[in-house]
Amino acid sequence: MAEAIQQLILDILEKHSSIKDTRQLTLPGQSSQAASQDEQIAILGALNSLLSREMITYETHETLSHALTEEGAQLSLTGSHEARVWAALPERGAGEPVAPQQLKTLVGDETAKVGQGRAFKAGWIAKEGGGLVKAVSEIKDTTQLELRDVDSTGTLEAGEKSLADLRKRKLITQRKGQWFTVHKGPGFSTSIAKPETDLTVEMLSSGSWKTSTFKKYNFEADGIPTNGGALHPLLKVRDEIRNIFLEMGFEEMPTDTFVESGFWCFDALFVPQQHPAREVQDTFYLSDPTTSLDPPKDYYERVSAVHSKGGYGSTGYRAPWSHEESRKLLLRTHTTASSASMLYKLAALCRGEKVSDDVLNSDIGGPAPTGDGSGDKGDGFRPAKLFSIDRVFRNETLDATHLAEFHQVEGVVADRNLTLADLIGFMRVFFKKMGLENLRFKPAYNPYTEPSLEIFAFHPDLNKWVEIGNSGMFRPEMLEPMGFPKDVRVHGWGIGLERPTMIRYGINNIRTLVGHKTSIDEIERYPAVRF
Ligand code: PHE
Repeated sequence: MAEAIQQLILDILEKHSSIKDTRQLTLPGQSSQAASQDEQIAILGALNSLLSREMITYETHETLSHALTEEGAQLSLTGSHEARVWAALPERGAGEPVAPQQLKTLVGDETAKVGQGRAFKAGWIAKEGGGLVKAVSEIKDTTQLELRDVDSTGTLEAGEKSLADLRKRKLITQRKGQWFTVHKGPGFSTSIAKPETDLTVEMLSSGSWKTSTFKKYNFEADGIPTNGGALHPLLKVRDEIRNIFLEMGFEEMPTDTFVESGFWCFDALFVPQQHPAREVQDTFYLSDPTTSLDPPKDYYERVSAVHSKGGYGSTGYRAPWSHEESRKLLLRTHTTASSASMLYKLAALCRGEKVSDDVLNSDIGGPAPTGDGSGDKGDGFRPAKLFSIDRVFRNETLDATHLAEFHQVEGVVADRNLTLADLIGFMRVFFKKMGLENLRFKPAYNPYTEPSLEIFAFHPDLNKWVEIGNSGMFRPEMLEPMGFPKDVRVHGWGIGLERPTMIRYGINNIRTLVGHKTSIDEIERYPAVRF
């Protein structure tokens, strides 16, 4: 249809060189002229399409026309209320006058109410006895005639006054309309060539490009949305944090051990075997398999001894040691389990074990320091800066900010004679890079660090201090059984990944961030990270 209208317009222009009023066109398949707005809209579509090829130009003219309301349409079929009242009454003397109540049953409430008044005013009906009769024998239902007129032409010969009257009676409404005047354009032709959309090799080699018409660029068009993947906010923030560590010369620890033994998660860290964190309420234990392989025998013995009997200047816990407790398999509750096994590897040279360069380079990072840097005193110790960002599991009650699994960020530094000031300094530098300048530290307790500090940061958006993590100097009871020399100190800290991510992205329920309620659309829309 659209193309047929275009062709029609072109053919008429070819003959008459212009179209004065598009309402006078007879569209393909129609028998009458295109007076209706729907037809003018169809014509407009065709005009715009021809205009874009410069085949025509056109001008728009605005009209005000009228259309029947639902009631108007009804009355144009049945006659006006007043005419129906008149028709329902007997001629004077020719029958019983109709009582007002009876009229309602004859023509309906609405027609009786509206029609009576208007029929009286027109002198069509009169009162007789207690009822109503016809006052004239013939009437002309002007309202009905006018409505029919409006319906077919959109206006009235009788003029604005009658139109206003019908509008007031809500029988017609005003409608804006358009019609068009059309002229030939610079690219006029009677055949609509489909414009080329691409310049092809064939066109170039045959030379047909010289005579082809090309579709114009539409610079207003939206591009096709790119269909790419999107990083989850946790991954974006993980990347930022990883970059800070790398920039500060840290090596990433392997953290693929979601399942650990009680030994590495707790015992090696000098967490007492009776510690509440080890209870089932806090730790998920595996039911199959339930027990781990044995850890290195000598080390295991030194660890069990420092727990139960003491050593290295410590009295130990003096509580009975349980081999079963130590071998239980569990989902790690913190990434410090990975730090412990990395530190144990780092101390291998101090224990006099042979370690292949491969292991040293890949797991611990970098070759041994040479020369007389703080590292090498001939006892095999090499300083290290290690970090990890990975998932941990705790048997917690789920709420808006806690899930049973989350991510920890952990930074660990091993060097000779480190002090608490080094730890605090390190954290200040690190967190500043994350955008947190205002830090406070509060003395705390960790079984594996002494002293221990809780880390608080002032959050400008939330306008309050929030606890962000935990830190401390690892205890000699943990480091010395591994084989580190006495002057080696290791400090570390851990923070969650979810909390800074939620703050950064303004998410206040963890279920919006992780799990099946996460909206993929949102994830695609989240902005790239900022510091
Ligand atoms: N493991 C601690 C936690 O889970 C964080 C920590 C890491 C504390 C290293 C001190 C040293 O909260």
